Amino acid sequence: MKNVTITVSDLRDMLDRGDPVTVIDIRFAEQHAEWTIPGSRNVDVYEALQMGDTRGIDSVTLPADRPVVAVCNVGRTSLLAVDRLRRRGLDARSLEGGMQAWSLAWNVAPVAVPGSSATVLQVRRTGKGCLSYLIGAGGEAAVIDPSVDPDVYAELAKQHGWRITVILDTHVHADHLSRARVLAELTGATQYLPDQQRVKFPFTALRDGDEIAVGGSRLRVLSTPGHTFESACYLLDGAALFTGDTLFVNAVGRPDLKAGDRTEATKRAHALWGSLQKIAALPSETLVLSCHTSEPIPFDRRAVVAPLAEALKAVAALGGTEKQFVKAILGRIPATPPNHLYIVGFNENGEFPPFDPAMLEAGANRCAVA
Ligand SMILES: [Fe+2]
Repeated sequence: MKNVTITVSDLRDMLDRGDPVTVIDIRFAEQHAEWTIPGSRNVDVYEALQMGDTRGIDSVTLPADRPVVAVCNVGRTSLLAVDRLRRRGLDARSLEGGMQAWSLAWNVAPVAVPGSSATVLQVRRTGKGCLSYLIGAGGEAAVIDPSVDPDVYAELAKQHGWRITVILDTHVHADHLSRARVLAELTGATQYLPDQQRVKFPFTALRDGDEIAVGGSRLRVLSTPGHTFESACYLLDGAALFTGDTLFVNAVGRPDLKAGDRTEATKRAHALWGSLQKIAALPSETLVLSCHTSEPIPFDRRAVVAPLAEALKAVAALGGTEKQFVKAILGRIPATPPNHLYIVGFNENGEFPPFDPAMLEAGANRCAVA
């Protein structure tokens, strides 16, 4: 069956190069609507194919001048679709591992940061909505919130002639396994984390106001509790703020994950309000570069970024009082992400699972409260 499949890595490369390809997502329409491959088209035939009904896939019109890639949950039912499409003479392939494997796919966009001489790359895990950053200056580089294979950052740094010296997480993540520790081992860089008692491995603790040098650039630590109590943001040369899950381009971070009870979530929502006021005091043109986005990230080399004034304006709940904000945020908490307690456990222990990480991480990102 090998020649009728395509790997995530090969499809990623095709989309990155802009090669002509039609991607059909054969899962249920609501699954496609929640998370998919950028540019893919939903052909909702999953159930029919499992029942042996091929009418849906046989009647779908597809361009014959380009390959077709069919994707399902884990890459089994898509093989049935591919069999039918190949009978029609189409160059059809099934995505190996399906959407679960696609969770690890990534792409890169440069971020222009006026006011900083550093080069900033946004490394986006499109299959999961995680945003991470590689910041290069004077031959050195920092990585913030690494969420894709450590080799990706190492290779990008090599291409730019940078040595990775600094690795930071903005907080203990609940939605993806941090690659910070593995990347630190790979590169010999210093691993920093906001000061807290949660993790059980050695790290260099950061406190409000601390500064880290990367080449000639500076990252200043802003303590911003709320999403989690230890959450911090990092300000690059006074010009760009890496906000983690505290502030997104159009939402704020949920304050409830692993909170235990409503009382702690309420406490964290109040802390979040305070942190957002602190952030709002920065210049309005400061760029907001967050750690997640709620949509699959296209292969468009366009960074997910917004000026601070715009990001704050997009959060309607910030227009009222602290009390109203807390009530609005707690009233709009989305469904809890699957496996988040396991993921937090691995991240607190500094461990990486001995099995495919996508088995824990796959699925839509649900960090934000819009
Ligand atoms: Fe988070």
